[in-house]
Amino acid sequence: MQFKEFQDDYRNSQRDNADLSKLVAAFKTQIGYHENIISKMDSQMQNELNLKKNIHSKKTVQDTKSITNYMASLREKKTKEEMVLLTKAIRISAMGQREIMKAMHPGMSETEIQGVHEFVYKKYGSEFEGYPSIVGAGNNGCVLHYIENSKTKVDNDLVLMDLGAEYHGYTADVTRTIPANGKFSPEQKLIYDLVYEAQEAGIAAAKIGSTFRSTDVIARKVIYEGLIKLGIADSDEKAAKFFPHGLGHHIGLDVHDPGLYNLIENNMVITIEPGIYIPNGSDCDKKWWGIAVRIEDDILITPNGPINLSAEAPRKSQDIEALMAEKSVFDDFHLPKLD
Ligand code: GLY
Ligand code: MN
Repeated sequence: MQFKEFQDDYRNSQRDNADLSKLVAAFKTQIGYHENIISKMDSQMQNELNLKKNIHSKKTVQDTKSITNYMASLREKKTKEEMVLLTKAIRISAMGQREIMKAMHPGMSETEIQGVHEFVYKKYGSEFEGYPSIVGAGNNGCVLHYIENSKTKVDNDLVLMDLGAEYHGYTADVTRTIPANGKFSPEQKLIYDLVYEAQEAGIAAAKIGSTFRSTDVIARKVIYEGLIKLGIADSDEKAAKFFPHGLGHHIGLDVHDPGLYNLIENNMVITIEPGIYIPNGSDCDKKWWGIAVRIEDDILITPNGPINLSAEAPRKSQDIEALMAEKSVFDDFHLPKLD
């Protein structure tokens, strides 16, 4: 008797007031079933140990290192069926970014901004968020996995929004950084456009046959040179402190999906997400303090070059400003005041 039948039996017996002894017998069978599995597991573990002891043994699926790499090599390339779900998750996330661009104003709280994204996700039938949503205004954006989202007024800061919808198990990962008041200040724009330039270089470099590492180096170079030119850093070493993470990762069933991170290959979906973070108190002119920018897109690798699956969310600074000037459905959404 399988567990499912046992459960059904149990429910029926409750409903029908069936003979308790039948239930007890079924339960004993169930225990026997589990004991059987456990004894099989023991012998399997024993085999594995024996294999490890035998240095001449061939690699088999019981070699846990090989199986990890094997699974990673399978998961890093997406099938057609997976692409249907992943593309939907990504497009939903891009729509969330579009709606908040129209709705954003300096009086909003970080959590309210998060709510607009997640409301859009639900409208499209996304079951969950793929990971805890990150909404950080100003200096909060410098905290890489800031999930408190507790600032009650975003004011005139840049708001970094890193969120992804999960749709039927597949997860997007899209980041946009936008000025709460709809217009980038001169300093915000200089940093934003530099990150944009680095992202463009990273996306263009994400071609079949390139390495993950070379793509990272190409985008990183743009940021280091730009920061030195702006006088924010005077060496690559100092510039590196303002870009303290890698350029990207695989997405899929997990937001950080497994992969070998060697060559870029056909049918992979990877993020390209450069960033610059200048926390308050940094060793540079005060005018840059509290500026944090990350731009993150989900890129499909194809023989015809990279395809940006999250392109429906504007990325260029002027395109963001243009969309932010549009009317939002949330402009007329008023709730009664509560004490
Ligand atoms: N979106 C979160 C991360 O990539 O770590
Ligand atoms: Mn990411």
